[in-house]
Amino acid sequence: MTFSPEAYLWFKTLHIIGVVVWFAGLFYLVRLFIYHVEANEMDVSVRAAFYQQYQLMEKRLANIITTPGLILTVTMAICLLIAQPSYLYQNWMQIKLAFVVLLLIYHFYCYKLMGQLAKGECNWTPRKLRAFNELPTILLVVIVMLVVFKNNFPTNAATWFIASLVIFMAASIQFYARYRRLRSERVAKSVTNDL
Ligand code: HEM
Repeated sequence: MTFSPEAYLWFKTLHIIGVVVWFAGLFYLVRLFIYHVEANEMDVSVRAAFYQQYQLMEKRLANIITTPGLILTVTMAICLLIAQPSYLYQNWMQIKLAFVVLLLIYHFYCYKLMGQLAKGECNWTPRKLRAFNELPTILLVVIVMLVVFKNNFPTNAATWFIASLVIFMAASIQFYARYRRLRSERVAKSVTNDL
């Protein structure tokens, strides 16, 4: 099948928009799981209302944003490959597809966690969920690098420097979040002791 060069650019535009929507959904979905699990620590009188609200938000986010983002990304990717089938025989594309499979497994695993949360059967801790929330960042960085550098994937010092910087930034955000959480727990405890 042949497409005009302009059609190819439209497919790529929509493919990138799909990627942005898909990832926004994945990042926020797991953040909601963290809040959902943290609701366990709330007072029994309000807990049920929070569970119900998070469950609704997760379901809407997954079905209205995240999965449509996936569908747009994959549909446009198929159109791109139909227009440019030679990409399928190139190493970078085969490696990219392997990472996309991991991303799809992640996506559907989120649905499994969502089901467990809805039934009150999820025994993941907030900490484990925070670590789980970092996985798509790694996949995103690798996939985007593969598609931009293609078969010239860089392994020089500048690449390692940028990779270390990204890891450092992600770790700093985690440490800061942990510091704030521990501080608010300490404040809550001292207020309870004062009463
Ligand atoms: C279903 C699997 C996927 C396939 C078959 C696929 C295929 C493609 C193809 C053929 C292109 C055009 C490359 C070019 O013209 O140079 C492309 C572009 C791109 N893809 Fe994918 N893709 C897939 C999933 C993804 C995912 C999950 C991401 C993000 C994590 C992604 C990010 C991008 C980006 C950013 C571009 C634009 C790169 C550029 O123009 O330099 N793709 N993809």
